[in-house]
Amino acid sequence: MASEERTQVGIVGAGPAGLVLGRLLELAGIDTVILEARSRDYVEHRIRAGVLEHDTAELLAEAGVGERMRAEGLVHDGIELRFGGAGHRIDFPKLTGGRHVVLYGQTELVKDLIAARLDTGAPLRFEATDVALHDIEGEPWIAYVHEGAERILRCDAIAGCDGFHGVSRPAVPGLKVWEREYPFGWLGILADVPPSTDELIYAHSERGFALHSMRSLQLSRLYVQCDPTDDIANWSDARIWEELHQRLALDGWSLQEGPILDKGITPMRSFVAEPMRHGRLLLAGDAAHIVPPTGAKGLNLAVADVRLLAEALIARFTGGGEALLDAYSDSALQRVWRAEHFSWWMTSMLHRFPERDAFGERLQLSQLDYTCRSEAASTSLAENYVGLATDWWSRA
Ligand code: APR
Ligand code: PHB
Repeated sequence: MASEERTQVGIVGAGPAGLVLGRLLELAGIDTVILEARSRDYVEHRIRAGVLEHDTAELLAEAGVGERMRAEGLVHDGIELRFGGAGHRIDFPKLTGGRHVVLYGQTELVKDLIAARLDTGAPLRFEATDVALHDIEGEPWIAYVHEGAERILRCDAIAGCDGFHGVSRPAVPGLKVWEREYPFGWLGILADVPPSTDELIYAHSERGFALHSMRSLQLSRLYVQCDPTDDIANWSDARIWEELHQRLALDGWSLQEGPILDKGITPMRSFVAEPMRHGRLLLAGDAAHIVPPTGAKGLNLAVADVRLLAEALIARFTGGGEALLDAYSDSALQRVWRAEHFSWWMTSMLHRFPERDAFGERLQLSQLDYTCRSEAASTSLAENYVGLATDWWSRA
């Protein structure tokens, strides 16, 4: 017989979405159990984008998990768009009434969230396998295997925070899906060298897109656009640096090289599944949507989803009824589609398309020039990049 347990919200997945949701619910006194397929070590060392929107950083601080982020994260007041032999700065605070982003590795954020949860003793089970969702339209329960034993978790609601390849989204019947794949991917490296720039550089060049980002004042993170089916074995360290030098080239500026600690190729896609709720199953984060990384929106969307979801669940468990839960999918999707558009737009404007459409290339250059020189257009980029403020969404 499988051992049985009961909780208010069963959370599947301990990525940013599941961990932040667990934290917000815990602060409101709501019981949760988080089930994670992978090991703690794996989850804490998975490298992903590390740009926190203004409100994401604020939420983490308010939730009491922002101490290290505030001390070690880097506040960035702008980015550079580099093309046609010149760099153009987009000044965030000036264009958005004082807002900025914080560079803080997703690995570090995940470590902070896990430490905070383990500190309070709230259940977080790593290496929970064979997770299966049952009776999501009625009285939901989750079957899983942990430490060699079959277990059952009965809950009032299930939060599907198990990423793009999880079991939650496939459990929803009749989902509507929108998807776009791009004919390129990103080859990303982590390099043991101080960044050659104070702010992120997004470069559009004849040879394709490149991005100079960072993890700290000692660690650089850089990307080059590549064929998504390419084998990383084809990319020696020397070849990667050579491409970066060429794509980021600017008179009077030089790129510092250092030992490459990690490298890998990621394909790019846009994906949205609707609705984000079925019965008592609620989807959040990458389980429901994917954006290409060009706008750095993935983590921020996951946090924005669970902020709404936490509010809705807290209302439901404290006598506030189901209205917010009923509204969850529509409210979350409003922000999702804004981020989908922004990420697609940044991606389309900055990359080189393999079919080499000369007309399309002229349009890209015109759009880049306009984005940098028109205050209205720069403001549009800036407000989307730092994230539209919470009160902007409630004005809809
Ligand atoms: N059972 C339990 N856990 C699962 C299962 C399963 N069947 N399938 C997947 N998981 C776990 C994964 O191992 C992962 O740790 O769910 C977690 C999902 O986490 P993420 O993929 O990080 O997704 P999310 O929390 O929505 O965060 C979105 O991740 O993709 C990045 O850049 C993106 O920053 C964004 C963020
Ligand atoms: C990163 O630092 O990994 C990063 C930054 C900005 C992006 C994507 C990734 O748009």
